[in-house]
Amino acid sequence: MAAAKSAQSPPSSSSSASSIVFSLRGSLLALATLTLISFTYLSLKSLQSNSSTAPPTLLPSSSSPKVLVDSDSEGLSDVYHSPEIFNLNYAEMEKRFKVYVYPDGDPDTFYQTPRKLTGKYASEGYFFQNIRESAFRTEDPDRADLFFIPISCHKMRGKGTSYENMTVIVQNYVESLISKYPYWNRTLGADHFFVTCHDVGVRATEGLPLLVKNSIRAVCSPSYDVGFIPHKDVALPQVLQPFALPAGGNDVENRTTLGFWAGHRNSKIRVILARVWENDTELDIANNRINRATGHLVYQKKFYRTKFCICPGGSQVNSARIADSIHYGCIPVILSNYYDLPFNDILDWQKFSVILKENDVYQLKQILEDISDSEFVALHKNLVKVQKHFQWNSPPIKYDAFHMVMYDLWLRRHVIKY
Ligand SMILES: *[C@@H]1O[C@H](CO)[C@@H](O)[C@H](O)[C@H]1NC(C)=O
Ligand SMILES: *[C@@H]1O[C@H](CO)[C@@H](O)[C@H](O)[C@H]1NC(C)=O
Ligand SMILES: *[C@@H]1O[C@H](CO)[C@@H](O)[C@H](O)[C@H]1NC(C)=O
Ligand SMILES: *[C@@H]1O[C@H](CO)[C@@H](O)[C@H](O)[C@H]1NC(C)=O
Repeated sequence: MAAAKSAQSPPSSSSSASSIVFSLRGSLLALATLTLISFTYLSLKSLQSNSSTAPPTLLPSSSSPKVLVDSDSEGLSDVYHSPEIFNLNYAEMEKRFKVYVYPDGDPDTFYQTPRKLTGKYASEGYFFQNIRESAFRTEDPDRADLFFIPISCHKMRGKGTSYENMTVIVQNYVESLISKYPYWNRTLGADHFFVTCHDVGVRATEGLPLLVKNSIRAVCSPSYDVGFIPHKDVALPQVLQPFALPAGGNDVENRTTLGFWAGHRNSKIRVILARVWENDTELDIANNRINRATGHLVYQKKFYRTKFCICPGGSQVNSARIADSIHYGCIPVILSNYYDLPFNDILDWQKFSVILKENDVYQLKQILEDISDSEFVALHKNLVKVQKHFQWNSPPIKYDAFHMVMYDLWLRRHVIKY
């Protein structure tokens, strides 16, 4: 869970996280972190001691705790860090987790309703729609574990609002909630969250620094240089829905291209990727987007025929290409120095993706060629297992992207408990 996550994140990120912690609200956040760690410990302990008495349906067939490093192949191929804890805690979440959605704000302008459920920022729209359709929503703030501030940055952008005005709109709105309701002041917003997939979400919230420093931000761009704080914030998967073609899977014999990427060269790593590999015969690297005139869905069909789909960051570390690769059954190759990948604390990304540093771009072909056929088949099988976690639905269904985001929020509910 959260403690396991910080133990697994690279030393550089946890030390930068802790320096942020101390440079910000000092003692308050340090206290919150300690509380989180001790609550996590207690809930882990109680889950472990409960597991022997839990109903068998909650547990995978074997009742003895399975260790991920153990040698049986099922354990090795598992895509979760702790499958038993995930199953038990997920069931607990479904039973107990309650969120209060502030009802204020004009639904026709920037609040409450999503702009749309399609396109690059669909994740934001789906979350807004799903939370209202779900049983997690409570009308009674006294029963709430967390409070949702429903500001849609995507919608503000759609209405052509300037950055300056967005900052003011968000500030005025949240200040109105702070003076009307008693909930924010209890924790200075630590049990409040907002959800934004649009990159402008960060700028829009700068008018109220506690929104960035203390509230939980669920954002598609988990870049540390725009203030993402790994132990409190949540990486929202960027999913471009609807998908143009059905999910891939069990089709390894058709995957004859080693690697594929085509896109805009809007970041340094993409420029290098294109420059180094554009003429290679095994890596299909196009230094520009595939033109629609080339043929119907040529870009998407390449995902079916490729083993490894290269996912370099663009203007931000995230890209909808990762969810596309997962959907079409092509192993995503994450090419970023730092990326707090979505559901990183639940899913073991090493089991269904290849995670590289930007500098590895020069050895990309050798690295991919060194992955044996059996390793590739195992990655592909696992990839198919996680497809459901990277897909939004309306109404939401069990274990889909909405429920995974809710689970990440559920793990953070104890930071400060009232
Ligand atoms: C910004 O807000 C001002 C004052 O409300 C308004 O006159 C102006 O049209 C707004 N501009 C944009 C681009 O939203
Ligand atoms: C919360 O605190 C702020 C700043 O101290 C204050 O202006 C506001 O009225 C308080 N809200 C409530 C509901 O008491
Ligand atoms: C492999 O590709 C062929 C030709 O496009 C297609 O008909 C077949 O269904 C594919 N096989 C699988 C397992 O997807
Ligand atoms: C790729 O081929 C084009 C056309 O022949 C050439 O201009 C370009 O320099 C080549 N790129 C690399 C990296 O060799």
